[in-house]
Amino acid sequence: MITGPAMFTFAQISDFHISAPDGAADRMYQTARHLEVAVGHLNGLAHRPDIVLCTGDLVDGGGAEQYGILAEILRALEMPFYLIPGNHDDRDAMRDAFPGHDCLARDVCPDGFMQYTIEDWAPRLIALDTLIPGETGGRLCRTRLDWLADRLGEQPDRPTIVFMHHPPFRTGMARMDEIGLEGSADLADVIGRHDHVEAVLAGHLHRYISHRFAGTIALTSPATAHQIALDIGMPDHLRLIMEPPGGLLHLWFGGEDGLVSHQFYTGDSYGDHVVFSDGEYHQRGTPPAPAIPL
Ligand SMILES: [Fe+2]
Ligand SMILES: [Fe+2]
Repeated sequence: MITGPAMFTFAQISDFHISAPDGAADRMYQTARHLEVAVGHLNGLAHRPDIVLCTGDLVDGGGAEQYGILAEILRALEMPFYLIPGNHDDRDAMRDAFPGHDCLARDVCPDGFMQYTIEDWAPRLIALDTLIPGETGGRLCRTRLDWLADRLGEQPDRPTIVFMHHPPFRTGMARMDEIGLEGSADLADVIGRHDHVEAVLAGHLHRYISHRFAGTIALTSPATAHQIALDIGMPDHLRLIMEPPGGLLHLWFGGEDGLVSHQFYTGDSYGDHVVFSDGEYHQRGTPPAPAIPL
C-alpha cells in the first residue's frame, strides 16, 4: 500500500447564485448563507486545501450589488481562490468586484475571455470561459479553443487540470443538456491530442456527475446551495431541490496515484442521521444508540 500526504489539495465549489438579500435566489435557497457555510467548512478542514476553484454561476443575475456580497463572503476564505464565469455571470462586473485578481484581466486571453493558467503547483491548472452573454448555454469558440491548444502545447509533459463552467458532455438530464456546451466535440479534439490532461472539472449541473471524456475524466460539482433534481429524460422539466449542498475536494498525489476527487457536503443539519464518534454510534440529538455489530 502506498501512503503519504497529498502533494497538493484543492477544493472546487460552484454555482453559488448569490442574489441581493431580497432577490429570488436568496429568498428561496438562502444562497448567501449557504456560501458562508461552505467557506466555514473549507476553513475548518483539518486537511485544508491549498487553493479553491469557484466554477461559475457565482451570482444569480450578474449585478454589481450581487458581486459585492460575493466578494465580502469570499474574503473570509483563508486560502487563495480562483474564479471563472458561468452563464449567470458578467465579466465586467466580476472584474470590478475582484480588482486584485490579475488573472481575470482583459489582456490575459484574446478578446477578453476569462481564461488563464495557474502555475504554482505540481499539476498545472487551466481556466476556460464558456460564457455567452445573455444565454444559458455555453460555448467554446475557435478563439478560446486555440488559446487552450497553445497552452496545452507549451508544457506537454506536465500534468494539467482544466476547469470550466459548462460540462462538455451529455448528462441525460434533458433540460440541462439543452443548455449545455456548444463546441464540446472541438474541445474533445484539442484535449484528445494531449494525454497530460488529468481531468476536466465543471459546474452548471448542481450535482456530482462523472464521464470519460477525450481520454481523460470529466466531473461536475454539486452546488453550494440548491441542487438540480436527478430527473432523467424530462425536457420540459427542471426541479431545483434542497439536497445537501457541497463541493469537491481534489487530492493530487502525483505519479501513479495521480488525482483523486472526493465529494463533500457542507453543513451538518441535514436530518437526524447517525454519526460515529469515539468508538460508539450516536444519533444526533438523542442519547447514544447501541453499537451495531459489524
Ligand atoms: Fe448554476
Ligand atoms: Fe450554469
